[in-house]
Amino acid sequence: MNFNSFEVIFAATMPVINSNKMIVIANDKTIQQAAEIIKGGGLAAFPTETVYGLGADGLNPIASAKIFEAKKRPQFNPLILHIAERTSLKDYTVYNDERIEKLIKKFWPGPLTFVLPKKEIVPDIITSGNLTVAVRMPNHKVALQLIEKCGTPIAAPSANRFGHISPTEAAHVAKSLGDKVDLILDGGKCAVGVESTILQLAEDKIFLLRPGGLSKEEIENEVGPIETVVKFSDKPNAPGQLPFHYSPEIPLSFLSNETLKKYSSAKIGVLFFKEKKVEGSFASEKILSAKGDLKEAAANLFKYLHEFEKEKVEIILVEPLHESGLGLAIMDRLKRAARRF
Ligand code: TXA
Ligand code: MG
Repeated sequence: MNFNSFEVIFAATMPVINSNKMIVIANDKTIQQAAEIIKGGGLAAFPTETVYGLGADGLNPIASAKIFEAKKRPQFNPLILHIAERTSLKDYTVYNDERIEKLIKKFWPGPLTFVLPKKEIVPDIITSGNLTVAVRMPNHKVALQLIEKCGTPIAAPSANRFGHISPTEAAHVAKSLGDKVDLILDGGKCAVGVESTILQLAEDKIFLLRPGGLSKEEIENEVGPIETVVKFSDKPNAPGQLPFHYSPEIPLSFLSNETLKKYSSAKIGVLFFKEKKVEGSFASEKILSAKGDLKEAAANLFKYLHEFEKEKVEIILVEPLHESGLGLAIMDRLKRAARRF
């Protein structure tokens, strides 16, 4: 048993006590408890297939405001509404688009978010005053059950402090937001491991606002070419566009002869894709996927960055990946982390 799972089980049997580390194993009873918290205007963290979310009642502006406070998140970053049924999309957005029907049918529940014109009922704090709202249906039993029990869409960003690494395990949430959240539902490790892909559809075009857990290629197979609008900006449409987003607390750079030389006297953590590519021994070495599987690599990415932090390496060097399939989302997160330093 590793330390993490010990911590989880310990916390599940003995809730609260010192640091409000309210981690409980997700089951009917604890999901109901989380639903009560959310309906009562509180915050509960829950697992999705991408990353853990910090959930609030998405139709309650005061509850949703607590999310920004807890994450120390700038107000200009709008939130995603999470729904439990495909048909609920029509309750919060206005659209008449065959392409959306097609994508929903194929990819929902799943790591795909749509930005669409919002209905009146969606509070401004959710959209940061935009006339559009982001909506997705997560592919996770616990998340779906929680939304159903709440009877309201759940507004949820990733359950981490703003700009920090996203959580893919309950213990990551406790580490980052332990004292800010009323309850953390533990549903195990997130299967996808990077955030959802965000699309915005215009009349004759589709824009990729954030590469994520569903690859651009898979979407293009269904609806044709997509334009990528991801850019580094200080006034982003999506916080994914902030240059320094998704950063570990330790400097991160890409693996090359140059960086190896530059940091030769430091305690280096090296992250390889499929196999160890360079000679020498390092303070810590990790392989994202020994099978060379991008899905597995994405699922391990944030977990390994969290581990490097725990191991207190001084610099993380990452082998660059091909920017195709899920490699695009992985490299997007890594480049932003690298730009912070
Ligand atoms: O996988 C995910 O999407 C996770 C899980 C918890 O569902 N959530 C997540 O939320 O990544 P967050 O808040 O970390 O990222 C939401 C993204 C932001 O980049 C935000 O700017 C964008 O969605 N977004 C939300 N509403 C938008 C809008 N109206 N227009 C453009 N971008 C929007
Ligand atoms: Mg986030």
